[in-house]
Amino acid sequence: MVEGARSARIPRAETDGWLTAEGRAVRAAARSQSDLTTVAADSGDLDLVAQSVPLPPPAKVPAPPASKPERRPSGGGTGGVDCSVESCVALTFDDGPNAQTSRLLGILADRGVKATFFMVGQSVASNPAIARAAADAGHQLGNHTWRHPDLTTLDAAGVRDQLASTENAIEEATGIVPTIQRPPYGAWDETVKSVSGDLGLSLILWDVDTLDWQHRDPAKTLEIVKANTHRGSIVLMHDIHSTSVDAVNDVISYLQGEGHTLVTVDQLMGGSTSPGSVYYSGR
Ligand code: NI
Repeated sequence: MVEGARSARIPRAETDGWLTAEGRAVRAAARSQSDLTTVAADSGDLDLVAQSVPLPPPAKVPAPPASKPERRPSGGGTGGVDCSVESCVALTFDDGPNAQTSRLLGILADRGVKATFFMVGQSVASNPAIARAAADAGHQLGNHTWRHPDLTTLDAAGVRDQLASTENAIEEATGIVPTIQRPPYGAWDETVKSVSGDLGLSLILWDVDTLDWQHRDPAKTLEIVKANTHRGSIVLMHDIHSTSVDAVNDVISYLQGEGHTLVTVDQLMGGSTSPGSVYYSGR
């Protein structure tokens, strides 16, 4: 209560008849604010000190529906890079998008490097703007299933569901329909291959596993890249760990210093890949 303020408390029951429908709504809103400590808020009694009656939060105006992005190419293609002439390496990032993806996009933009992102459908659905930023920046997007299961434990319908729902989420967010998928844990079998082929997806594995998710050490990531990467390599990293993103500047500097051009998966493969085929590296 404000000191010196005149006030009177009138039991809630006696005030019900005084209030318009709007007034009752205001009081209900006041009572629902958990951080209020006044008796009025707790009991619903009408407290006539004006300062202690909070206004209800402003009504939410629904945002206009976001315009659905136009359908556009898969984000692959060669982009003018010829990996039969240049020595190319593809950096790939799995399991996003999340906040670390945004930081990574800034680093890649600063360095003028294009990469490939294998996105988890449910994360695309919760972070569509980040997925779209990756697409808008010209990176290639790939399908990494809806909830990251081992696809070899699912039947054909289950595999299809994991891939198709993710494709829908990526298209909804970015306008892009991916042409590549990466099976979680690198686990595939004939069913996974055949369903992927039906959906127009090739399977993109890797030949350099940085194990970044395990050691969470940027120096170790760089060390593994140095020891294992050669022309045509596909390097596996994860853009959900800050320590992985921390390694990227040094990884780029090292690979470019070795004379490699950093490219997307499609660029590495000469422009496109075949649905249902499995790739571990390029040329
Ligand atoms: Ni993964």
